[in-house]
Amino acid sequence: MTIKRKRIAILTGGGDCPGINAVIRAVAKKAMLEKKMEVIGIEDGYHGIIDNRYRTLDYNDASGILTLGGTLLGTSKTANPYRYALQKGNRLEFKNLSKIAIKNLKNLGLDALVCIGGDGTLGIAYRLFKDGIPIVGVPKTIDNDLRGTDITFGFHSAVSIATEGIDRIHTTAESLHRIMIVEVMGHKAGWIALYSGVAGGGDIILIPEIPYHLQTIAEKVRERNTKGKRFSIVVIAEGAKPKGGDIVIQRFVQESPDPIRLGGIGFLLGKQIEKATGLETRTVVMGHLLRGGSPIPFDRILATSLGTKAVDLIEDKKFGYMVGIKENSLIAFPLKEVAKGPKLIPFNHPMIKASRSIGTSFGD
Ligand code: F6P
Repeated sequence: MTIKRKRIAILTGGGDCPGINAVIRAVAKKAMLEKKMEVIGIEDGYHGIIDNRYRTLDYNDASGILTLGGTLLGTSKTANPYRYALQKGNRLEFKNLSKIAIKNLKNLGLDALVCIGGDGTLGIAYRLFKDGIPIVGVPKTIDNDLRGTDITFGFHSAVSIATEGIDRIHTTAESLHRIMIVEVMGHKAGWIALYSGVAGGGDIILIPEIPYHLQTIAEKVRERNTKGKRFSIVVIAEGAKPKGGDIVIQRFVQESPDPIRLGGIGFLLGKQIEKATGLETRTVVMGHLLRGGSPIPFDRILATSLGTKAVDLIEDKKFGYMVGIKENSLIAFPLKEVAKGPKLIPFNHPMIKASRSIGTSFGD
């Protein structure tokens, strides 16, 4: 009697992030080598499902990619089968193409679809699951803002790049006695700013979770100057905002599940600090640099653990779940809960407490 090989597909959605290829490798290798499954790669996120763009992956596709940044499958931050953007002349029209997506997926005869992505991708994955597709999620984002996991892969690589940026900025800040502002990504959460700010010895760390007062920042900078520290480093999350004020929106991407793109708060704050203190202030925006390049060893290990665990979930037919890490153990977390909003930094986070105790200001 011949046993039918299981067939799974992998899709990557949302922004690129160090470690995606390491997850693809882990899922595909374990599925192929240990479970004798057939593995398909869907191209460009949910676009590939609508357009039937996919390819069978063989062992060589999954090999030699552990250290590579980006995603070999391509990705999309805008494709959403439930609200699919179609260009009509010079305007966009939105259509629910989920029936096409489901039909195409069913035609592929999949035993499971592994969706690697952040809140947008996994929110769509949950809807597909409710519509009958056997889905397993893997949490991906440099922002570390996903519920159900203590850490997302890519986060520590981004922190490491941001920290190197802050270290390098110190040189100019100290030599020219300037205030240097380093703006980092993180969307509506301050995880990257907090971790890189602590690791880089930022004097002031500004995160969305703690709205700041310009006056507090100006006083801190002046106080450092009187104490002989003639420079200050401010690490600010792109989603930070003044108390009673607003976030700075860089652009709207109409066709995206989350259309707001943040960026620019660092420049605004820089002008305000310079005016308030009379001290020369410059801003550097790290932006997409944080998403590029090779994952650090921690993320390679995390990606391998999460990817192989995803295959276990498939074997156990535990669909509608995302793999995650809780207190150093691999867990399965319901996708339904992931979609309930971002995981923000709690007010009493031990790292905030520790930083305050060594004189770091949060601008509040
Ligand atoms: O979610 C990852 C992230 O890099 C956020 O930190 C940032 O706000 C956003 O994506 C930027 O998106 P885009 O690549 O569309 O500019």
